[in-house]
Amino acid sequence: MDVLSLISTKGGAGKTTVAANLGGLLADAGLRVLLLDLDSQPTLSSYYALENPSPEGCYELIAFNRTAGELIISHTVITGLDVIVSNDRAGHLNTLLLHAPDGRLRLRNLLPAFVDDYDMLIVDTQGARSVVVEMAILASDLALCPLPPEMLAARELRRGTLGLFEELEPYRHLGVALPPVKLLLNQVNFNRRDTRLIMHSLRRTFEVDVHVSLCDTVIPDRVAYLNAASLGLPAHRVESRPASGVRGPCAAQVMQGLALELFPQWRERLTHSVWHSPPCLSPAH
Ligand SMILES: Nc1ncnc2c1ncn2[C@@H]1O[C@H](COP(=O)(O)OP(=O)(O)O)[C@@H](O)[C@H]1O
Ligand SMILES: [Mg+2]
Repeated sequence: MDVLSLISTKGGAGKTTVAANLGGLLADAGLRVLLLDLDSQPTLSSYYALENPSPEGCYELIAFNRTAGELIISHTVITGLDVIVSNDRAGHLNTLLLHAPDGRLRLRNLLPAFVDDYDMLIVDTQGARSVVVEMAILASDLALCPLPPEMLAARELRRGTLGLFEELEPYRHLGVALPPVKLLLNQVNFNRRDTRLIMHSLRRTFEVDVHVSLCDTVIPDRVAYLNAASLGLPAHRVESRPASGVRGPCAAQVMQGLALELFPQWRERLTHSVWHSPPCLSPAH
């Protein structure tokens, strides 16, 4: 089971959008995907309609080490896509983890309970520094950081999101490897001149950094992602082919490209099933 976490100390960067759409795409490619919503504002939990809501969620998983699927895992209407919903509205988990001896390693220690049933775990987090976010990082094989293509956001990245990773460096001495960080430009407007400049500057900044790199894929600013969220569908089903008169690749091409870049080990499935299996469902119909 691969573990991907969406990390950004900035709210509105696109963590939940990417978690939901990547999860939906991988499930449509035939992978068994589990979403874990660790944001106390449960946006990912309500992205897809649930077929069979379970009574519990992330609070019981983290607070009580509860891993029984029938109690904490809900099935979404997307085949192969399950979710552990966020039910820690008051943010108690942060305090609890701060005082627990296994604190930031708790999720990592719970992962073996899911490896037989899932190929992929995608963890969504809140847009702020917290113990829960640090716990998600330490459980991940890869951390994906969506970033708006703005110079100020790019500068803030080092202090905010990357600062979080730096503070976890001591865990390396305990034998806990920190995940590589991939920066993903989201809500890119190709008509803006400064976009290329920012991409170039980010690439240059991190070219000698062994832990941080910039994704080749960029996600355009597109209404398809908003429509997909309203319909409760993954964006690749909503915009499965390029819309006429719109520059740049459609949502299906972008999300498939991103999945291939992040998970080359699933190339076979991603190139053979995703493209053809889901029906083309346009929000206009
Ligand atoms: N590529 C995109 N194009 C258009 N709208 C987007 C895109 N990515 C995110 N959004 C919208 O931006 C808002 C914030 O995104 P969200 O994924 O909730 O951010 P986060 O989880 O990091 O706070 C949402 O309304 C979402 O639908
Ligand atoms: Mg979110």
